[in-house]
Amino acid sequence: MPVASRIEEVRNEISELAERSANADDLMRKMVNLLRKRMLKYNWAGFYMLEPGTQPPVLVLGAFDGTTTPHTRIPLNQGICGAAASSGKTIVVDDVSQDPRYLACSLETKSEIVVPVFVHGKIAGELDIDSHFPAAFTAEDKTLVQHGAALVGLKLEASSE
Ligand code: SME
Repeated sequence: MPVASRIEEVRNEISELAERSANADDLMRKMVNLLRKRMLKYNWAGFYMLEPGTQPPVLVLGAFDGTTTPHTRIPLNQGICGAAASSGKTIVVDDVSQDPRYLACSLETKSEIVVPVFVHGKIAGELDIDSHFPAAFTAEDKTLVQHGAALVGLKLEASSE
């Protein structure tokens, strides 16, 4: 199957997950499982969420699928995760060995994408994907992962109403 149609299919599958999920935690758990299972170059997928009330702010590992990581709490001034949360921007790193911000989770990781999750326009966390393949995350992958992060933001907004 061409990669573009696979991405389109997975986009629809995560939209369906969002419709069926009882709450954001349920959605995040199912989304990381689905992304790992369906996207063959996604070797680790996980959410880091800002811990409410902690100063200075810290990202805490939530639902994830893949090997265990030593980075369960990441301050905003550390890592690609910290950079994405503090800038509120998606970060794609094609070669993690060339990025001084990178915090290693697995020695096999070659590339990474981190997409912020917004709730009512404020950063609430992020969706982080690692790949064993260099430059695994194309513009289409970026759109897919941003879609997943946006669905979680909407779910969190719905539960805060
Ligand atoms: N690589 C991330 C840390 C998280 S692990 O990849 C799961 C970073 O540089 O922030």
